[in-house]
Amino acid sequence: MTPVDANTRLKEIYGHPVGRDAIDKVLLQLGRSSLWVRNPVVANLRLSTVARLVRPILGEEFAPSLITVLADHNHHHEPDAASGGDPTPSGTPAAQPPWWRRAVFYQVYPRSFADSDGDGVGDLRGVTSRLDHLADLGVDCVWLSPIFDSPNEDMGYDVRDYRAVMSEMGTLADLDDLIAGAHERGMRIILDLVVNHTSAEHAWFRAAVADPDGPYGDYYHLQPGVPGEDGSGPPPNNWASFFGGSAWRWLPEAKRWALHLFAPGQMDLNWENPRVRAEVAEIVRWWRARGIDGFRLDVINYISKRPGLPDGNEAIGALMGFPGIEHYFFGPRLHEYLRELRATGFTRTAQDPRPPSTVRSRGADGTLGVPEPPDPVGVLVGETPGVGVEMSRLLSGARRRELDLVFNFDVLDGPGKVRWDDYRYDLGYLKGFYLDYLARLGPDDAIALFLDNHDNPRMLSKVLGTRDRDPVLRSAAAKALATIQLTLPGTPFLFQGQEIAAINQDFAAAAELKDVESVNRLAELRADGVAHEDALARVRPGARDHARVPMRWEPGPTTGFSTGTPWQVGREDSVGFTVAEQGADPGSVLSFHRDLIRLRRAEPALTDGGFRALLPRSREYFGWVRTAPGDGDDWLVEVNLTDRTIKRPRGLPAATGVLGSHGLARGPRMAPYECVVARVLIAG
Ligand code: GLC
Ligand code: MG
Repeated sequence: MTPVDANTRLKEIYGHPVGRDAIDKVLLQLGRSSLWVRNPVVANLRLSTVARLVRPILGEEFAPSLITVLADHNHHHEPDAASGGDPTPSGTPAAQPPWWRRAVFYQVYPRSFADSDGDGVGDLRGVTSRLDHLADLGVDCVWLSPIFDSPNEDMGYDVRDYRAVMSEMGTLADLDDLIAGAHERGMRIILDLVVNHTSAEHAWFRAAVADPDGPYGDYYHLQPGVPGEDGSGPPPNNWASFFGGSAWRWLPEAKRWALHLFAPGQMDLNWENPRVRAEVAEIVRWWRARGIDGFRLDVINYISKRPGLPDGNEAIGALMGFPGIEHYFFGPRLHEYLRELRATGFTRTAQDPRPPSTVRSRGADGTLGVPEPPDPVGVLVGETPGVGVEMSRLLSGARRRELDLVFNFDVLDGPGKVRWDDYRYDLGYLKGFYLDYLARLGPDDAIALFLDNHDNPRMLSKVLGTRDRDPVLRSAAAKALATIQLTLPGTPFLFQGQEIAAINQDFAAAAELKDVESVNRLAELRADGVAHEDALARVRPGARDHARVPMRWEPGPTTGFSTGTPWQVGREDSVGFTVAEQGADPGSVLSFHRDLIRLRRAEPALTDGGFRALLPRSREYFGWVRTAPGDGDDWLVEVNLTDRTIKRPRGLPAATGVLGSHGLARGPRMAPYECVVARVLIAG
């Protein structure tokens, strides 16, 4: 497309994938509808006019910043000219969709999953001891949050050694057992690859500090201090750390500033350096040879920073909360780096050793078969904070050969809301989000469906607010969320605890919050003079700690997680919401997840099928049909999105309930959060 400048009309900017996402993002953040841009009068405005209109809100520099970011990606959105694609295993028809399209992923936060040795910290043997739970649930792929050697300033998201297991989690041999155990049960296993940054204790960084002009100095973003001021002067730019304060730290030993977008011990790697990229590819190959089936790539959209690391626009910084973000959240060389990493790290070559084990196949009825050949390409799941739908497509469209799946975080909070806000999430927004997302996907695109992870409070609690303690509503809403996640088109990612309707904790004291982000945020609020109770109330709703409390395996003070003193304690102890209790109850949330996943496996419509929304505009009723790809049955799925009894709409396809939160009858009304999965009856 022609380069964007001040004369470009808004509709043309909106026609550019990055422009569209940027505009949608701003509108979402301001709590406005994107319909606004489609108004013909608005759509025809030139950027210079828009810039004048939004100046009071977004400042002088908004338009020039937008022009710069769009210019980075002017060519990247054109269809990939290169022919071919990933290699397919011999004997597999190329048309066969990759395994992860039909898979259910399950994220384990190992520190809080199961502790085998009583030291209070979850570990690898603990995970192995619970693999049967995951296999029974029907999980296809387990993702482990970081387990590599780390000083744990950010719980493993600060890696000291990419080829070693952190001591409290076990040994490499334990990991080999876990990989084999997963494969044996028909489950793949992926790890977290945290390569936007390393720990400051990584050997590369230590070498860089010791000799900033030596070969490792260029592995990181090191910058000299302001002359004569010995680093007491201003940092190289105004970028902010996600965990508070400046993104720069002065290294007195090296007389350099070092960039850290996260904690001061998480040093950003310089991906401009080809040696850094080669090291990362080597790490991936090393783990693939050990049997790891792929990676979730941590904040992978941040790896390409704009050369020169210019100051961030203050208005964008204020709007998004982090000055500088437009210079790295979708940087100029991102696509190039991802393609290279996929080709050189994730793609098997003929010389690559066969891993010690590969996953056993699993039939539609769950029966295990023989081990499959190694995957030609390890799966790449990108954690991509801030990207919108069009950017997601640019990163994960199959023919682009970058990532396979990405997480789009816009589903997690309603318009104008951020994670820290205390509010009740409206599932009507979630419906609109997915309908829009699904409508924009082409045959080449994939979508990851997730509602919870280790960085967010529980969606169930956001939906229910304080009513999450009501066992009836809690079960119903958890089943509704499961139904949405497991039967919409896409690849679901469950996070540990979702299957037992885990909810938020009412952390009563600051000391109960352990996460670096919560701790820093509390300290900042206190330093700003906010009273202790108020500060806690402003951190609690968004704290990542909610997701990091020990898994509730059974009733009792340590919830079957550990025989020792757990490193972190949950405050939620409702009767009936542990794996043991739920496993024994066929009507439980856990059983419902298991039944849904079983149905998914057996019914091609639910994975490969088409999708048709019913009553797309209703904010209380979410209904859709999954149409069978072959001669199988079509399925109707219905969810009451509210905590009220609603009327079931008329004129729906005739269908018989097969799974339901409130029984299988489909009467004139739907109970609060009621959901039903029903087989469509063929007329005639
Ligand atoms: C990702 C991780 C988060 C971590 C951050 C820095 O967002 O999910 O837990 O703090 O990256 O690595
Ligand atoms: Mg332990």
